[in-house]
Amino acid sequence: MKIIRAKDYQDLSRKAGQIIASLVTLKPDCVLGLATGSTPIGTYKYLIEQYNNGDLDFSQVSSVNLDEYKGLPRTHDQSYYYFMHENLFDKVNIDLANTNLPDGMEPDSDKACADYDAVIESMGGVDLQLLGLGHNGHIGFNEPSDQFKKGTHCVTLSQRTIEANTRFFASEADVPRQAYTMGIGNIMNAKKVLLVVSGADKAEAVKNCFFGPITPQWQASILQLHKDVVIVADEAALSLV
Ligand code: F6R
Repeated sequence: MKIIRAKDYQDLSRKAGQIIASLVTLKPDCVLGLATGSTPIGTYKYLIEQYNNGDLDFSQVSSVNLDEYKGLPRTHDQSYYYFMHENLFDKVNIDLANTNLPDGMEPDSDKACADYDAVIESMGGVDLQLLGLGHNGHIGFNEPSDQFKKGTHCVTLSQRTIEANTRFFASEADVPRQAYTMGIGNIMNAKKVLLVVSGADKAEAVKNCFFGPITPQWQASILQLHKDVVIVADEAALSLV
């Protein structure tokens, strides 16, 4: 596991963006595993800047996102589909036919998850999986539990995650209670993992996940077993280690 110390959020975003940009340059038809949330927004901005400068070409890139709320239509401004279009897809020349998210409007969870696993499988492996880190150590929506889940599955969000996500909705009651998420097995299958984490409020999660025992109570701790993980963290997020 490699930890890159960034000065602040801007520095973190540039460093993480450079790692993704170099992959896209070296392997123009790469498969990117993408994340939503606040942390990767700066990374996506960096990539958009590079694209606007003529330094990056996404025309052959494919993508597969970590997760999607169950029951939110794609047109809802808090759906992850909407987020990805707003923050990346509509601002670079990625072919939208090659972008993938779980179908949050599929009411049959077993079908939605099996279909998404089939999509991931058909892409022949994710070259780089970008991740954020939840306060409780979640990656994707893999919440603290007594087990690690392998494939895409439907989760009931923990109270802490609902509270963290309330800032994006009119009220806590509006936050969806369930989501479809890649499993830990899907994430561990990526050839490279790039985790971005920022802020003092994530310091405890960083300490427990990457400097403690591997346990499903801190789901990201499993990344200690991945052979190619890069964590780009700012000083605040590293303040307890
Ligand atoms: C997003 C995701 C989540 C977030 C995590 C951190 O697709 O799956 O695991 O990465 O909740 O979110 P932020 O970056 O908003 O703190």
